[in-house]
Amino acid sequence: MSITKLMAPGPNERQLLEIFKAANRAPDHGKLQPWRFWVIEGEGLNRLSQVFVDALSSYDAEISPTVLEKTKNMPFRAPMIIVAIAKCEDHPKVPKQEQLLACACATQNLLNACFALNFGAVWRTGELAYNRDVKQSLGLKPMEEIIGFIYVGTPVGAIPSAPEADTQAIFATWPPI
Ligand SMILES: Cc1cc2nc3c(=O)[nH]c(=O)nc-3n(C[C@H](O)[C@H](O)[C@H](O)COP(=O)(O)O)c2cc1C
Repeated sequence: MSITKLMAPGPNERQLLEIFKAANRAPDHGKLQPWRFWVIEGEGLNRLSQVFVDALSSYDAEISPTVLEKTKNMPFRAPMIIVAIAKCEDHPKVPKQEQLLACACATQNLLNACFALNFGAVWRTGELAYNRDVKQSLGLKPMEEIIGFIYVGTPVGAIPSAPEADTQAIFATWPPI
């Protein structure tokens, strides 16, 4: 589930603690805890906006003013952004792929905890998640990856109901009869 229209308030300190406890219970091969999260709100969102604009401008000097303006406004689509960072390391038994997956599980747990507390959230990436300058400005180490910008806040309006899933097309008995 995702909610894209979000307003203040975001989670308070006590609620964030619950959210992070849930994130930390992700399946984790080798107990590496290959995840960490930046919580960004208030003035931090202005700083993130500047990081996005700087990264885009240096990456493409001929960027259109419209795209630049859109990028500048991106961080203000919610009162809080949680940056999910995969803290990958070289490991003899746990390949990087598994560390990324564990971080994704932690992030999904985080999303579910947000929803359980009646907040809305949406997982976003886009090219800036993989941009070298953005990663550097957010203090990532060379082996680390931004796997998502999780926008969190109070849902604006009613939460849409989930579409019916064709589960039979997805889950089947093997071997097939
Ligand atoms: C790794 C990852 C990256 C995503 N990046 C974006 C994104 O940049 N923009 C976007 O609109 N949705 C993105 N999504 C999808 C949304 O989070 C969401 O799943 C989608 O809008 C479907 O909505 P639903 O979850 O309510 O079905 C991403 C999802 C994942 C797992």
